[in-house]
Amino acid sequence: MKWSTINSILAASAVVSAFPAIEKKAVFANPSANGTKFTIDGVTKYFAGSNSYWIGFLTNNADIDLTMSHVASAGLKIFRVWGFNDVNGGGNGVYYQSHSSSGATINTGANGLQRMDVVVAAAEKYKVKLIINFVNFWDDYGGMNAYVKAYGGTKTGWYTNAKAQSVYQAYIKAVVNRYKNSSAIFAWELANEPRCPGCSTDVIYNWADASSKYVKSLDPNHMVTLGDEGMGVPGSSAYPYGTSEGTDFVKNLKIKTLDFGTYHWYPGSWGMANTDTAAWIKAHADACLAAGKPCLFEEYGVSSNHCATEKPWQAAARSTPGNSADLFWQWGDQLSTGQTHNDGNTIYVGSSDFQCLVTDHVKAIG
Ligand SMILES: *[C@@H]1O[C@H](CO)[C@@H](O)[C@H](O)[C@H]1NC(C)=O
Ligand SMILES: *[C@@H]1O[C@H](CO)[C@@H](O)[C@H](O)[C@H]1NC(C)=O
Repeated sequence: MKWSTINSILAASAVVSAFPAIEKKAVFANPSANGTKFTIDGVTKYFAGSNSYWIGFLTNNADIDLTMSHVASAGLKIFRVWGFNDVNGGGNGVYYQSHSSSGATINTGANGLQRMDVVVAAAEKYKVKLIINFVNFWDDYGGMNAYVKAYGGTKTGWYTNAKAQSVYQAYIKAVVNRYKNSSAIFAWELANEPRCPGCSTDVIYNWADASSKYVKSLDPNHMVTLGDEGMGVPGSSAYPYGTSEGTDFVKNLKIKTLDFGTYHWYPGSWGMANTDTAAWIKAHADACLAAGKPCLFEEYGVSSNHCATEKPWQAAARSTPGNSADLFWQWGDQLSTGQTHNDGNTIYVGSSDFQCLVTDHVKAIG
């Protein structure tokens, strides 16, 4: 717009302002990184959120609306959902992409990405910001294994398999172009917990570099993140600090087209103690401070004593500079079909655990 045009609009609005106030709709920039903090809807502070792998697979729109309304009224801002659901050769239920030896078909039908459309619309309605990922390292909902079954190779070879990568990028393009104008996107995420066991850390680094550049070429206006567990970080010789699963957290943070770091924490499955948590948070937060990017404590959970165990984790997460948001695993709700999946880590709306780990946490953030 030319300056003279702007001036005439300003002059016109000065006249209009003599009349009763016209309702103004606030329009905010997309969520962004501001140094080592996140900015959402113009507010730069610490944020809390949660994970729901299942919300995009629900078939009842009212259940999606109810869940999102609960997330918003709890004061959570970031909600991480599965943006993939890969099958081999069709399927009866909800799926997003079907793979066969002749190639992939993206399901944009009523039992396909139209389910995700409802999630994105609900997030817009309730001003919740979504992290949407593109593939699973694990075999749940197909994952990289669905690609391997159709195109050959191995899971560790998936990151460099030309056919798998061209199908993966075509899927990214379909999802990003479908939702990139939405106000509900917090960030795009390359994968859920990508690992390459026994590989050089260059494999995931190079793949993350190329893939994040590709996402930015489609949508330069949203953040991009890796979705890894944060393994490979200085601080200890214990298992998750090492690079045996193929990720180097500090090295990956150097990728210019990745806007923030992610890390997860399941001490029970990783041979660690619950009391090792503050050190795990600090190891990542220090790396994020050094890189000048925010850290997101993206998944954490235990299968018992949720409140007593995780309350100090959240206190450490809030008070460690460089760590800028946390998302507990996982959101639990009561839907038309009954209670959502109880994997032992689930925190259900209305429970005493919810009071402790959601209501009190959000209050402490202020
Ligand atoms: C970045 O954060 C600083 C301090 O927290 C704040 O003053 C500034 O307005 C923020 N910038 C944006 C673009 O939100
Ligand atoms: C997104 O917005 C751009 C410009 O703001 C527009 O050109 C494009 O058509 C929009 N895409 C969709 C899918 O709405």
